[in-house]
Amino acid sequence: MRSSFILALATALVSSSLVARSDAQQLCNGYAELCAKTYDQVSYATTHNAYASNTGALAANQDNNISIQLKDGIRALMLDAYNTSTNDPNEIELCHTSCSLLDAGPLTKTLGQIKAFLDANPNEVVTIFWENAGNLTPAHFQNAYQAAGVTNYLYTQTTGSTTWPTLADMISSGKRLVNYVDSGADASVPWLMAEYDFVFETPFEIALGAAYLCTVDRPKDQRKQMYVMNHFISRTIAVSGVNADLPQPGAADQTNGPDLVSHANSCQSTFNQIPTFVAVDFYEKGSLLQTVAQLNGVTFNNKLPTQPASSTTSGALSAKSIISARAVSAAAIIGATSLLAL
Ligand SMILES: *[C@@H]1O[C@H](CO)[C@@H](O)[C@H](O)[C@H]1NC(C)=O
Ligand SMILES: *[C@@H]1O[C@H](CO)[C@@H](O)[C@H](O)[C@H]1NC(C)=O
Repeated sequence: MRSSFILALATALVSSSLVARSDAQQLCNGYAELCAKTYDQVSYATTHNAYASNTGALAANQDNNISIQLKDGIRALMLDAYNTSTNDPNEIELCHTSCSLLDAGPLTKTLGQIKAFLDANPNEVVTIFWENAGNLTPAHFQNAYQAAGVTNYLYTQTTGSTTWPTLADMISSGKRLVNYVDSGADASVPWLMAEYDFVFETPFEIALGAAYLCTVDRPKDQRKQMYVMNHFISRTIAVSGVNADLPQPGAADQTNGPDLVSHANSCQSTFNQIPTFVAVDFYEKGSLLQTVAQLNGVTFNNKLPTQPASSTTSGALSAKSIISARAVSAAAIIGATSLLAL
């Protein structure tokens, strides 16, 4: 009798520890259901020109900085690589169009913020898309990543392989920073992968008011395993005879709300597959995170994105925009801002 009591007690303890274990179920990129999915089967909230968050700058694509973006659930970042003014071979400058128009500073600083996030959040997989605007070598990227201390996190997929690990596998291996570059990749730095070996993109130059297309834009007419659905708009404004494509924060609630949902539905049915990377400007406006949760077939965790104290929507006309646009004359910018206000 006594022994059967002990046995019952032991059984109860074992089953309660099992219950406790399943209560603390692992989340991957915020959702338990994503752990068993392979990397290529998941949809990721993506920020276009993620670094370009100089509040108030006319050329800014985001309101929140990269630390806040990651905290909010952005899991893929589009970055533009330029030489530093001194051509430092160990450092890369993050700029938009030109470093005199928008300079978001050195890459090692931004990689430091990404590293801090990965260190503090062991169940998250993050992707970086590089636009190699400065024609930098893979070794140059390698040097900057090394300087930032993130090399332990770098994931390498074998070229030509379409079999990806699950998010849970990537998390347990610790290799959870995936990097693609649009040009200049070579075998000398395998983790810096040629984007168009794995991913195609829908058109990215979408004018305010134009249709959102679901066609294969880059690489030209070549369908790949995954895709970026580019969903950010701009308006071209001639400034001193130079055309500038300016982001449209004032339209972002609509762009990232109803327009995003219908674009994603349309691309999903055109390509018969969910967009892997859903890339937007001003990600905290509209319903990006809800839309991506829906694409992933999970119930949105209700973690709403950070609303900036002063968004570009109201800041676009401030004097700061003039300061950050040294390449064009102040008078021309004032002309452009009055056009923008229309
Ligand atoms: C990012 O923005 C937040 C909110 O404005 C600020 O507190 C934080 O210091 C910024 N982080 C970096 C690395 O600039
Ligand atoms: C960047 O700097 C390197 C020297 O580190 C130089 O070889 C290269 O031409 C520069 N690229 C551009 C686009 O100026």
